[in-house]
Amino acid sequence: MREQTMITWLQTIIAIILLYVVFEKLRQWRLEGNIPGPSTVPFFGNSLILWDYKNTQDIGRIVMKLQGLMEYGNLCRLWLGHHLIVGVADPKSLEVIFKSNELLNKSFLYDFANDIASGVFVSSGEKWKVLRKIVNKVFHNNNMENQLNVFNNSSKVLCQVLESKCDGKSFKIDNFLHRCILDITCKILASSRNDIQLKKDLTYIEDVHLVAHLSFERLLRIWLYPDFIYKHSTSGKMKQAASNRVLGFGLELINERREFLNEVENSITVEGYSNPKTFLDYMMDYAKARNLTDLELSMSITDLIVAGSDTTACAISYMLLMLAMYQDIQEQVYEEVHEIFGDSDRPMELKDMNRMPVLERVYMEVLRHCCPPHIVRRVDSPLYLQDKRIPVGSSLYIMLYRLHRDPEYWSHPNSFYPDHFLPENVQQRPKYTFLPFVSGLRACPGQRFSFIMMKIIVSTILRQYKITTSVRPSEIKLSMTLMLEISGGSNVQLTRR
Ligand code: HEM
Ligand SMILES: *[C@@H]1O[C@H](CO)[C@@H](O)[C@H](O)[C@H]1NC(C)=O
Ligand SMILES: *[C@@H]1O[C@H](CO)[C@@H](O)[C@H](O)[C@H]1NC(C)=O
Ligand SMILES: *[C@@H]1O[C@H](CO)[C@@H](O)[C@H](O)[C@H]1NC(C)=O
Ligand SMILES: *[C@@H]1O[C@H](CO)[C@@H](O)[C@H](O)[C@H]1NC(C)=O
Repeated sequence: MREQTMITWLQTIIAIILLYVVFEKLRQWRLEGNIPGPSTVPFFGNSLILWDYKNTQDIGRIVMKLQGLMEYGNLCRLWLGHHLIVGVADPKSLEVIFKSNELLNKSFLYDFANDIASGVFVSSGEKWKVLRKIVNKVFHNNNMENQLNVFNNSSKVLCQVLESKCDGKSFKIDNFLHRCILDITCKILASSRNDIQLKKDLTYIEDVHLVAHLSFERLLRIWLYPDFIYKHSTSGKMKQAASNRVLGFGLELINERREFLNEVENSITVEGYSNPKTFLDYMMDYAKARNLTDLELSMSITDLIVAGSDTTACAISYMLLMLAMYQDIQEQVYEEVHEIFGDSDRPMELKDMNRMPVLERVYMEVLRHCCPPHIVRRVDSPLYLQDKRIPVGSSLYIMLYRLHRDPEYWSHPNSFYPDHFLPENVQQRPKYTFLPFVSGLRACPGQRFSFIMMKIIVSTILRQYKITTSVRPSEIKLSMTLMLEISGGSNVQLTRR
């Protein structure tokens, strides 16, 4: 009797599993149409591809592996559990996507950043529209070229800081660059007057990296998706603590600005306060109109500060290592800079900016290598790419890493080769083959800002130091935060010129 019940139970369970598998396959088949992709397993879909994730160093490798799915082409699909992900890396489809006024909502995958950031970078729908209007106004009005003295001062301080490192020993330059750029970003976007570069106890940069890595870890471990489980996990607790420190930094910026504005209001002479409103000023108005708490305000400015500082700092770190490795390229850039400044130590002026085509080409090649390897948008309305129907509710996984290394468009896809950006070579490439800042209404607003920071910082360093390294190109491994970055940092040596 007992045995029989067991057998009936077993039969029922097996029948349910089989039914599930069949239904799941049918559901997938109906949704994905004829988009090619690797075969799936029940429950997990293709998420087992992400299985060999062990530590944060692996993220970059997994992303590269994911996008290396060559046999499936530049339009392919993956199932992340029940979620359909459509990978895209062909310029024609990208043109459709970025010219569309529809595909502006970010995928649910960005929700994992919601507990620390709630600004323009992660939001969707109406909220994004309002915030993006503010950002556009700031970047349009804010004539950064008029604030060159901020850049000038910060890069001078950077050189003073680096002076102590100029003893022939190899060191990791990344953190110095991150601090300098965080300093500039906070001064330009939040009118901070503190010297963040010289702050001894600053852990902001490490905290941001920790939060990013923990968020990726969660993304790759689907059992950590439910909030109530995550909250009690070790990783969830670590993330909460680091997030609190990051948001505390934002609160300091807010308080500092508020004190200053009070001072100005209470003083009779309002001299020296003719500056255009900064991003933080607009966001304070925004928060006031919506009764946001200071913590919520901090969350709404954090993503811009991180998007602005972390990206550019990673790119410049990458760039300095490349210049150190390829001495001939460094020499070309140095000559260009020397041509402009001679041996003087005058600060950079506006007119100098447009006289650095070699430096610009090197930066673009750097961005080809290390810009965010992907972005993800949510499909909210019917869409056709390459005559294939992309179902509503799926995510578009835009594979910038793959696009930027497609041998069809790049003569030296895996090398460091700034000549990719010689005018004659640029002309030969179709549009939408180089998209480090993506394109369209949701493109990066900080492109010009990033170029200005890069030009001032790199030229300031090169005017004083020759950069060398003992790292060889074959030794480079990439890991990932927002951008792809060099595992273990950019180890360089500086010698006075
Ligand atoms: C090397 C430098 C940079 C690169 C490669 C870069 C790249 C990108 C990319 C690819 C996106 C689109 C992200 C997505 O759709 O998921 C983006 C968005 C964004 N970036 Fe940048 N960025 C850089 C520097 C900056 C700077 C300097 C700022 C501002 C100070 C900035 C602010 C933003 C903001 C606010 C967004 C969100 C825009 C929106 O969703 O409407 N970025 N960036
Ligand atoms: C974006 O998502 C919001 C809901 O969050 C929706 O109301 C809106 O229509 C979507 N926008 C587009 C362009 O699909
Ligand atoms: C550039 O920075 C230095 C050091 O902070 C300062 O002495 C100099 O006046 C600045 N020059 C300009 C033009 O802003
Ligand atoms: C730049 O530095 C100079 C001298 O150190 C200082 O007088 C000036 O106020 C600084 N300017 C800015 C915008 O920080
Ligand atoms: C904000 O709070 C004030 C006072 O409590 C209230 O009058 C107002 O309606 C609130 N505004 C919003 C947008 O909630």
